[in-house]
Amino acid sequence: MNAATDNARSVVSQISSLPALPRVVQRVVALVEDPDTSPACLARTISSDSSLVSKILKVANSAYYGLSRKVSTITQATVILGFNTIKNLVLTTSVFTVFNGNNKSNRFDHEGFWSHSLGCATVSKIISKQIRLGPPEDAFLAGLLHDIGKIVLDQFLHDQFEKVLDLVEDQKLRIRDAEKVILGADHSEIGAWLCDKWNFPEHLQESVAFHHSPAAANSKMVALVHIADALAHKESIGNGVDNLEREIDPGSLELLNIEAKDLEEMTKYFHDEFNKASIFLELMNGRSTNLEVNPMG
Ligand SMILES: [Fe+2]
Ligand SMILES: [Fe+2]
Repeated sequence: MNAATDNARSVVSQISSLPALPRVVQRVVALVEDPDTSPACLARTISSDSSLVSKILKVANSAYYGLSRKVSTITQATVILGFNTIKNLVLTTSVFTVFNGNNKSNRFDHEGFWSHSLGCATVSKIISKQIRLGPPEDAFLAGLLHDIGKIVLDQFLHDQFEKVLDLVEDQKLRIRDAEKVILGADHSEIGAWLCDKWNFPEHLQESVAFHHSPAAANSKMVALVHIADALAHKESIGNGVDNLEREIDPGSLELLNIEAKDLEEMTKYFHDEFNKASIFLELMNGRSTNLEVNPMG
């Protein structure tokens, strides 16, 4: 499925040079999908990029995974964490590297943006585990990327994004409505286009494309990210720009067989998990973060 819309294509055609996903990342994704790939082969590929190696080892040894012994080589990391986790880790660190904080607008709170994204990723992972929706790391990455279109707009269509921020401020519009007015496409469409361009897996493209309109997708991953986004907004984790509350689509809860009243209990360990996941923000900033978060529940 190609979730990129014509509107998004016409918006991004104005961008002259969007950074490509690093070659090594594309190679890792391809290798993980090949059943004949050995841990040594995957490790060799990753090892060609020394900054990727140090980031992976840093996360592998962090409280995020809570491993009992130290991981000192990439081969060890691939064996202990598994191919799929390594793939998601490589994709996550690369996204943070490509969008490395060179935001253009002073009015767009970059740290707040990633904090919101990480909040959504954490909730997605926590709920995914409980409802057994495939590898929890898949849900984490889908949640992390859901608003990636906003970063593309801020960094690469800066002047128009400033106008979007003006509209949000002046008319108290939701950001996606303001984006539609100014650009003719919103961040979910722009993000889906990026996922397509970077050949990200289909479930990622879909959850980026439909996180505000989950009924259009009828996908459990989309429903999960939609719910997690709303919860992250509700708890004021980070900043989604307009800071307006998101309604949870009842159809998404139904699809996942979750009762609204159970969400608080299901996410009671959010605070702990969010703090462990903040290692990803440290990788991006190259420093320690001390984020203020509200525990859920
Ligand atoms: Fe969004
Ligand atoms: Fe969001």
